[in-house]
Amino acid sequence: KLISVVLSGGAGTRLWPASRQAYPKPFMKLGGSALLEQAITRGQACGTDDLLIVTNQDHLFLTQGLLSDMADPPRVRYLLEPKGRNTAPAIALAALDCQAAHGDDAVMLVLPADHLIPDTEAFVANALEAVRQAQKGRLVVFGIQPTSPETGFGYIEVAKLGRDVQPVLKFVEKPDLATAQEYLATGRFYWNSGMFCFTAGAMLAALAQHAPDVLQAAGKALAQSTSQAMSLPDEPNPPHVTRFHAHSFGLQPDISIDYAVMERADNVTLVPARFGWSDVGAWPAVAQAHTPDASGNTLGAADGADWVAVNTTGTHVHVDSHCHKVVATVGVQDLVVVDTPDALLVTTKREAQNVKRVVDALKERH
Ligand code: GDD
Ligand code: MG
Repeated sequence: KLISVVLSGGAGTRLWPASRQAYPKPFMKLGGSALLEQAITRGQACGTDDLLIVTNQDHLFLTQGLLSDMADPPRVRYLLEPKGRNTAPAIALAALDCQAAHGDDAVMLVLPADHLIPDTEAFVANALEAVRQAQKGRLVVFGIQPTSPETGFGYIEVAKLGRDVQPVLKFVEKPDLATAQEYLATGRFYWNSGMFCFTAGAMLAALAQHAPDVLQAAGKALAQSTSQAMSLPDEPNPPHVTRFHAHSFGLQPDISIDYAVMERADNVTLVPARFGWSDVGAWPAVAQAHTPDASGNTLGAADGADWVAVNTTGTHVHVDSHCHKVVATVGVQDLVVVDTPDALLVTTKREAQNVKRVVDALKERH
């Protein structure tokens, strides 16, 4: 059995105001459809038998709405989190769920719901390679060829960058800038894509060895969960939903799978990614996902958005589908302008990483 495990949890605060708590990044449309839908489709293309979505309970209806609008709506199991506890608990719960449903040998293809991978065919070829490795009991990561000493990624050391599947020598999550620069210079490090592949049994064994507190807490949270098939009118494929008690769920440690397992395990294998990949971290990455005009301007918008650009270069304008204004830019360069019904963002591409500080500032007001 091959199961897609879609992690849909992060708020994507650097993409404010298009991405926010009530309508986070996985629901943002890029290249025609929501990132979450693209992740689901990517899993289906790999021939997965089942789909498990781990997400916040507040996003059940938004997610289910998106799924039922899909051309080929998959049957889905949900693990509904009362609050985010990071990826190690999410993956531990998913592994326990997969083990209970399909046994230790079930292969889990873990896909973040907020990545952009335009070439599905190339991804599928890579993913099937990962599945073969996972079936040997390996914990598989996908390596992205690094282009800068980005500090928001995990770094994966192998003997030599290349096209081969290789054992991982070292995994370091989010090193500081000096260390990232050092790593880049050696030519032996990949970026971690954040996607993983392993059997439920291999992940549970790794958790038992390297993060027993995470595994134990996940077991307790599951013991107090309730599961049922949801009855929805006009729903031919009713989803199966597991809900948790807020208290036992909240007792799980807040730690990512990268720190809890990948840095510590010695059975990690790297599959070098042969597909284009972006984790769409901030607005410049969104701009890059659009085809620029002759002046390097990009428009991310619903149909019919109206932008008059005069002496404008390298600028990205995003108009929410509920906004019906004409946007005009005159004599500006390398800006990001995002218009939504209740919030307007103006920043430069250079400063765009700091948009998360807006969200922090707004939170402090409440
Ligand atoms: N369900 C659920 N619950 N999903 C979560 C939670 C949670 O509590 N926390 C995070 N996620 C989801 C996010 O929505 C995202 O899709 C994925 O898990 C990764 O979480 P991020 O918070 O975006 O992690 P990161 O970007 O800091 O780092 C990870 O991704 C990088 C590549 O984008 C790491 O794996 C890095 O090593 C990697 O380089
Ligand atoms: Mg991320």
